[in-house]
Amino acid sequence: MSRVIPNEARARQEIASDPSASVFVSANAGSGKTHVLVQRVIRLLLDGVSPERILCITFTKAAAANMAERVFTTLGHWVKLDDDALSDAIRATGVKTVGPSLLAQARKLFACALETPGGLKVQTIHALCTRLLQQFPFEANVPARFSVLDDRDQAELMQRASLDVLLRAAAAPESDAGRALAFAMTSAADVTFRDVVQEACMSRDRLMAWV
Ligand SMILES: Nc1ncnc2c1ncn2[C@@H]1O[C@H](COP(=O)(O)OP(=O)(O)OP(=O)(O)O)[C@@H](O)[C@H]1O
Ligand SMILES: [Mg+2]
Repeated sequence: MSRVIPNEARARQEIASDPSASVFVSANAGSGKTHVLVQRVIRLLLDGVSPERILCITFTKAAAANMAERVFTTLGHWVKLDDDALSDAIRATGVKTVGPSLLAQARKLFACALETPGGLKVQTIHALCTRLLQQFPFEANVPARFSVLDDRDQAELMQRASLDVLLRAAAAPESDAGRALAFAMTSAADVTFRDVVQEACMSRDRLMAWV
């Protein structure tokens, strides 16, 4: 099924994918936002910007993978096109004048984007922040070579730690924790109690400030 893209939409996409413009795009689902971003990356590469100087940030890993895949699919496709077809494809990204040197440049982009060390970066904001913290642990006051737990590992660690505390509290009813546990038991159902502990641990900065 091929859709007709209205000329006005196309014209706006061209403006938005011009790398020399600073743009904020807001548009309906499925209307071409990612398409515009991909065109923008490709136009930057066509301008001769080296891939390692380009950083694309997304919220989800799926979106990052989708964007990178589209950039590489397009560039890979360009390698196989003849001059006329490639000229059309380049013009469709919004570039106005296409000459022999640009065609040659366009055919090299796929290999160049793949091979440049630390090449084109399309990643989540979380991944970028993790990398920054790992590069500057001293400045950020975090342990060097730290690793990030995924949600499942985190939940498991939390569960083990709170069970540990509860068992110790139950084993020593006269200790501070033991008396706190006895008090909590009378004021909350066990499920609520677990939720409260979980929530308190998750907002520990606020809790510690309050304590
Ligand atoms: N100018 C265009 N030329 C060719 N295809 C286009 C154009 N604009 C959008 N499309 C196509 O329309 C489809 C939807 O576009 P895209 O995925 O970029 O939209 P989106 O706004 O990012 O969607 P979502 O809201 O789901 O993230 C894609 O297949 C894309 O290639
Ligand atoms: Mg999208």
